[in-house]
Amino acid sequence: MSIIFAGERLEDGCKELAVLLLQTKYTVVLTGAGMDTESNIPDFRGKNGLWRNYDPRLVADITTFQQNYDLFHEFYRERLSTMKHVEPHPGHYVLADLEQRGLIKAITTQNISGLHGKAGSKKVYELHGNMKEIFCDRCGLPATEQELLSRQPCKGCKQYALRPKVVLFGEPLPADVWNAAITEIKRSDLLLVIGTSLEVSPVNQLPYLTEGKLVLINNEDRSAGYAFDLVLLGRAGEILRRTVKYLS
Ligand code: APR
Repeated sequence: MSIIFAGERLEDGCKELAVLLLQTKYTVVLTGAGMDTESNIPDFRGKNGLWRNYDPRLVADITTFQQNYDLFHEFYRERLSTMKHVEPHPGHYVLADLEQRGLIKAITTQNISGLHGKAGSKKVYELHGNMKEIFCDRCGLPATEQELLSRQPCKGCKQYALRPKVVLFGEPLPADVWNAAITEIKRSDLLLVIGTSLEVSPVNQLPYLTEGKLVLINNEDRSAGYAFDLVLLGRAGEILRRTVKYLS
């Protein structure tokens, strides 16, 4: 049975989380788009989520890439410009600091923003890829963001097939990253899940793989169907900042 902390009891939840972080030996973190909204990157299924204006299957699907490159390109040009000037928020820096202190061992993320790495986290598994690597889907030749933004054909095979190295709907996750994430989470004695609706497979299966404690930080309760020990309802950045006070 999860213990839910919200409102004025949230501080107690931060204290409980701090105790767990100090007690456990191998904490792994799983983040989703809710970890990036405080850096002004919209999430997908929250109240102002991206999927309220776009049908994901229409714009972020491998079929669209293959059959309607214009629509694909328009969506990802917008995504690239949204992410161009974003910076990590204090919550990202807290996670990087906790890794420095040995209190967390790895971050597995669904986010493609690269903000965990930008904040200094070293061991980050990008399960859904990233927006910084651009390449030609036909011949594999690397390309630049500028070439993608200005809708250039591939310099090698001349095809209009440039794309970011993100996992599109209908594509498999990168096997090496996926297997490494599974190994980390199976080894964990605490899995801290932050800012995800847990709606998208296969990542939503990962919380079942830890034999340790399971904690959720989210601004809405998405714990149904999982055996979370603690659920802290609120903004990820704020909760992480309040938790770190009890770790000194
Ligand atoms: N603090 C805590 N939780 C937050 C915050 C915040 N500041 N902002 C949003 N949230 C919550 C939302 O309420 C929602 O429950 O984070 C969750 C984000 O869920 P989604 O938008 O579904 O994002 P995510 O779970 O990462 O989506 C998984 O779906 O479309 C695909 O590839 C895409 O990686 C993405 C995947």
